[in-house]
This record gives sequence, structure tokens and C-alpha cells, in this order.
Amino acid sequence: MKHLIFSDIHSNWEAFQSFLKKARRLKPDTYVFLGDAVGYGANPNEVVEALAALPNLVAVMGNHDKVALGLETSMLFNPVAAEALDWTKKKLNEFSLNFLKSMKRGPLRLKEGVCICHGAPFDEDYYIFTPADALEAVEFSGERICFFGHTHVPAVYEFPPEKDFVAIYHPLEEGRTHIKLKKDFLYAVNPGSIGQPRDRNPRGTFLIYDDQEEAVKFYRFSYPAEKAKRRIVKEGLPEVLGERLLEGY
Ligand SMILES: [Fe+2]
Repeated sequence: MKHLIFSDIHSNWEAFQSFLKKARRLKPDTYVFLGDAVGYGANPNEVVEALAALPNLVAVMGNHDKVALGLETSMLFNPVAAEALDWTKKKLNEFSLNFLKSMKRGPLRLKEGVCICHGAPFDEDYYIFTPADALEAVEFSGERICFFGHTHVPAVYEFPPEKDFVAIYHPLEEGRTHIKLKKDFLYAVNPGSIGQPRDRNPRGTFLIYDDQEEAVKFYRFSYPAEKAKRRIVKEGLPEVLGERLLEGY
């Protein structure tokens, strides 16, 4: 089966539309969403409606989704993120609220040997940025592969059975992003972000996990980020949320 794994849309309708066009052409068997449908961007309801319409969708909640639903507070968020969430809460319609509520809390078992979560299996709000954290995540999950989001940075951490070294892949462009998963190795894998990439590349990222081939393949896509920025400014959201889309930070 081909699982299309994606994360962190953050109400970016321009990015999500471009993603959908590319994703449909790849004809995945399932869509696996790792959380943060909303927050930061200007079109939460359009994004949620299109997300909800995807066939064979498995979705876990992100920290922004939980705050938007009032399940958690934004006390630990930076002021810009908190302001955007206050705006989002007022904007969400009934359909969006119901769909966000229907998303599962991570971590979840996608299939035998594969865990999915937003932050980390031991703490859904935790940011995995180091090999030590990545190893702790996959070991804690009890599975061989752990797919996570939250950092908005695409990455593959590969651990051999002896766990005496780690290989780290940061996919930057298409064409050098097909990574074969080795038997008995452990993997922590982040597809990056659809709507707010933070690896200094403004193009969105996602991946296909092929469980027959045992491989992950990353994809990048361009989208009209200037338009997304204009919408953010027009809605009175903090301008920096538009600026960062142009630079990918
Ligand atoms: Fe996020």
C-alpha cells in the first residue's frame, strides 16, 4: 500500500490546493495526516473541508488543533501563534469544529510496526530535533518506524540494530529523496510541512511510504505563497506569519 503522509497545513489554503493537485496524481491508497490543520493561516474552514473530503484518511490532532478546540490552552504558545489561534477560534464553523473533534489523539498505530503522532509518542507537544530524541521516540513507540510532524522540517533518522550510529537525511529537493528502509533498522521520519515549511525552503513537503517496497519518497511542491501572505495581512493576522512563508522559516 502507498500511504501519503503529510503534516502541518496550518490553514494555508493556497499551499493545500497545490498539494492536493500533486497528491491526487500519485494515487495513494491512504492519506495519513499528522496534525495541525489550523492555526497561523487565513483559511481554516476551506482547509478543513478539503481535508475532511480526502478518501481513506487517518488523522491525528496537532497542538494547534487542540487549542482551537479549547482542549488545551495557548499559554505556552508564542504571542503570534496565540493571536492567530484566538482569531481561528472565532472563525471556525460548525463543520470544521466537528471534523477537528473527530481527529484522533496520537500516538496511533497505523499498521503493524508503524506509529504515527504529531510531536513525539511520549509527549505530543514535544519537538524532535536531535538523534537522541528521535531514537527515544521510536523506541518508546514500540514500533519499527515512527512518523512524526510538529517541527515542520523534513527528516529521516535511521538507526542500525546496534544503535551505535545514526544516519540523518534532510531531503531538500526532489530526485535525491528516495530512501529505502533497511530490515531491522529503526526509523523516525518527518514529512515536513504543507503550509509553513521551516527548512529555509518555501516549498511544501510530504512523503509517500510504500509498505511493499519498504521505502519513503519525499516530494516538494511550489504554491502561490505571496497570495497566502496577502490573505493573512487582509485578515489582520500578524504580518510575520505571511513573511515567513516567502522564506520558509
Ligand atoms: Fe505545526
